[in-house]
Amino acid sequence: MVKPKIAPSMLSSDFANLASEAERMIRCGADWLHMDIMYSHFVPNLTIGAPVIESLRKHTEAYLDCHLMVTNPLDYVEPLGKAGASGFTFHVEASKDNWRELVQQIKSKGMKPGVSLKPGTPIEEVYPLIEDENPVEMVLVMTVEPGFGGQKFMPEMMDKVRALRKKYPSLDIEVDGGLGPSTIDLAASAGANCIVAGSSVFGASDPAHVISLLRKTVED
Ligand code: DX5
Ligand code: ZN
Repeated sequence: MVKPKIAPSMLSSDFANLASEAERMIRCGADWLHMDIMYSHFVPNLTIGAPVIESLRKHTEAYLDCHLMVTNPLDYVEPLGKAGASGFTFHVEASKDNWRELVQQIKSKGMKPGVSLKPGTPIEEVYPLIEDENPVEMVLVMTVEPGFGGQKFMPEMMDKVRALRKKYPSLDIEVDGGLGPSTIDLAASAGANCIVAGSSVFGASDPAHVISLLRKTVED
């Protein structure tokens, strides 16, 4: 069966203290660190890129789960590979013409390829990438419009998660946006196993407790 992976979104961390925030999350029981790489042509926000990943890599051995919200993901494969990214998840909306090349390049740089989709994108659009002879290894279902932390979870996205889990019992399925103690039941019962959580973890007085609660709900 698929393993739970709890991935605090570092977008909600104190970016001025990124290394110690990362260390704190790992101490609190995080499996992965979710790194939101946004460029404002794809989403209405701008965050970090390969130089920050490279700096953080010097301070942690943690799995860096990079979520690329950019229009030209191929341009970021080499720099992020060199910087020490672990996972490279691109958006299907931004890779219509070149996803095969992208997946191949991501794997050749030693990263795990994933594909993500926005709330308005039908789930069928990612099926060819999972069924290809050189497939993606994770699907990230957005449960908010990408761009910002702290938004409200969209429960109607669970239909996508259920459809994926039914078709692909051993696939890593990640959900991202508005996840926390009040929404994890829906995501876990739909079949998600990789859980991104930003504001619910960083805003908690006891982040370790939230992380363990998320993990337990996925395990049950
Ligand atoms: C939104 C990002 C998310 C975000 C999640 O575009 O992809 O990773 O940080 O934050 P919360 O958990 O606060 O919704
Ligand atoms: Zn994200």
